[in-house]
Amino acid sequence: MIYVIEKNDEKYYFLNTNNTSIVLLKNKYDYLFILHWGSLISPTNLDYVLKELNRASYLADANGVKDFKLEQMPQIYPSYGYSDLREPAFSIRYQDGSRITDLRYDSYKIYKTKKKLKGLPTIISKESESIDLILIDKIKKIKITLTFSVFDAYDAITQSVKIENLSNETCYIEKVCSASIDLLFSDLDMFQLNGAWGRECHINKRHLVQGSQSISSARGASGHGQNPFIALATRGTNEEYGEIFALNFVYSGNFLGKVEVDMHKNTRVQLGINPFDFEWILDPSQSFQTPEVVMVYSNEGLGKMSRIFHKLYRNTLASRKYLNSTPPILLNSWEANYFDFTKESLLNLAEKSSEIGVELFVIDDGWFAKRNDTTSSIGDWVPNQVKLGGNLDTLINKIKKNKIKFGLWFEPEMVSPNSNLYRLHPEWVIQVKNRRIEESRDEYVLDLSNPAVCEYITEILSNFLSVYSIDYVKWDMNRNFTNLGSTYLSSERQKEQAHRYILGLYSILENLTKRFPNVIIEGCAGGGGRCDPGMLYYMQQIWISDDTDAIERLPIQYGTSLIYPSVSLGCHISAVPNHQTNRITNLDTRSTVAMWGNLGLELDLNNLRKDELEILKNKILFYKKIRSIVQLGDLYRLQGLDETNEYAWMYISEKQDEILVSYVQIMAQPNTVAKRLRIPYLDVNFNYLDVENNRVYKGDELYALGVSKGSCKYDGYSKQWLFRRI
Ligand code: GLA
Repeated sequence: MIYVIEKNDEKYYFLNTNNTSIVLLKNKYDYLFILHWGSLISPTNLDYVLKELNRASYLADANGVKDFKLEQMPQIYPSYGYSDLREPAFSIRYQDGSRITDLRYDSYKIYKTKKKLKGLPTIISKESESIDLILIDKIKKIKITLTFSVFDAYDAITQSVKIENLSNETCYIEKVCSASIDLLFSDLDMFQLNGAWGRECHINKRHLVQGSQSISSARGASGHGQNPFIALATRGTNEEYGEIFALNFVYSGNFLGKVEVDMHKNTRVQLGINPFDFEWILDPSQSFQTPEVVMVYSNEGLGKMSRIFHKLYRNTLASRKYLNSTPPILLNSWEANYFDFTKESLLNLAEKSSEIGVELFVIDDGWFAKRNDTTSSIGDWVPNQVKLGGNLDTLINKIKKNKIKFGLWFEPEMVSPNSNLYRLHPEWVIQVKNRRIEESRDEYVLDLSNPAVCEYITEILSNFLSVYSIDYVKWDMNRNFTNLGSTYLSSERQKEQAHRYILGLYSILENLTKRFPNVIIEGCAGGGGRCDPGMLYYMQQIWISDDTDAIERLPIQYGTSLIYPSVSLGCHISAVPNHQTNRITNLDTRSTVAMWGNLGLELDLNNLRKDELEILKNKILFYKKIRSIVQLGDLYRLQGLDETNEYAWMYISEKQDEILVSYVQIMAQPNTVAKRLRIPYLDVNFNYLDVENNRVYKGDELYALGVSKGSCKYDGYSKQWLFRRI
């Protein structure tokens, strides 16, 4: 609920969810401040908060008022130039060369029906309430609307910003954050998700120090290196305890997340489009809409924070089918065959997949044009009839005779220099005239800031999805942007390209998902190179890493699960020795780890022994029994945050009546005894049946004593328990 309290010439805005609050204040000089972000406070008079800030020295006055110093005040959308010399939330350059904007409160509007942000993925729920707070610079006639939406039941708040040019002169947006929040304290740790290709989303933590600390991407996509997520947490925060202030950006391109601790130990945290290599020309009567940021406060550690994100994203991020239901178990041909397959080998693999219970067969790269390695053909989306032994339609029909769905790999945003598409349209590629275009994985990037390119991609994909019986698309994107430049955009607008690319991508996905609502799309960017809520708005799942090694997957899945729900995480059982690490891990543990998210397979079933196939078949059967617990239930991570050798996690079903507990020990140790795994979070008043051995435990027993982890006598040991509440 949103409450407004007026007191003399001040106004308080309480943005309250069921358990959290953000409190804003408009003061008598029409500045907008943030008094609180954190636990719930009911609407009340908070006029003492700013009054009790004693005056810091050596700071300039604001508004000509002696000792009124913006730099020591907690602001909600700070401009630069008038006494607050910390990092501004935005920056606009005007025709006269000046860069100062003096935002003052103008008005507000509260409404129930949140509108979709134009051209951008948006968190929408019928049970939300929104407020537009309008700020104006009277001299330059710039209007800034801060939109906050409050999702009571989810305990989440979103923010986005719109800048409008009401003057008759063009101006230039140099920076625009989607959210900027000041906290009056700084004894905090900053959690972030870092990595690289094959090592995405590892959790890192650092203590805030005076100065700036940041995460960012300037790669064209949110990137493997940093996820657009920051969580500030009180010292000692773990899965169960601690206060967390988390921000996640609903955007798939370049971003900057910055935390500044100032001279007076206040914290300013900001998230938005990366101002590096960005500028937006705003002509008179034009507006610029930022993507939104999701803000989550938890007073029960990382675990609660994750469950808030999961529930919110499952239910509100996308109306897409499967994000809130159970997706099919797939087998992807990539690590089974790479480029080396024939009609017979595909049919054989599809048949074998179906025999062991797989529900969707996906042909990965290599099915089109002359694509037998990475050196050619991206962009030439014509089935290779020689390789497929006839037309694609016939092959799909034959595959589907096994009562299995069918999926195909595409990399729509790229083009091979050696392709007909590039020969026909060299101007469609991201490039700077007279400069070499760098290749990466033998590819160039198509310039999606050009609407003609977007139309072309939409048409190609629409054709495929209308002509062929395709149930699933793996949407890949395998390189970063280099030599950024557009032959389509004017020279003045070149710095708009990276953002226009993402808007182009969203427009393609908007069209396709509207037209083909039943097709599942799995996002991939060399694994988790574009794993963000923006992509999840359009795609039901993300292939979170090309690293399929079960042990390597533990920290990757742990980190990714901080924000993204299990139902959106593609997790596959692959062959041993593993293709990325050469490690041999037993099938049991490979399966346990892949059951953390959406189970899939990525291996040649012909290379498995009969008994291994039987194990796999049983694992798939088991997963079918428990998948709704994993995909729609609540996740509790029990071990793994600080320890590197043991991981344990648990899912409790929506109705709280089924519980899956998984445990993995990475390295065996000599001379150890069986330890116990405590199972908290259950209702201690119930009894729970261990389905495997029919043993009944009381809830309080499981809480106090847990279950035996057993003897971990070999590397990569794992165990799973399924409990039913009785
Ligand atoms: C990328 C993906 C892989 C696979 C290959 C195909 O690397 O991440 O899963 O699809 O492309 O070329």
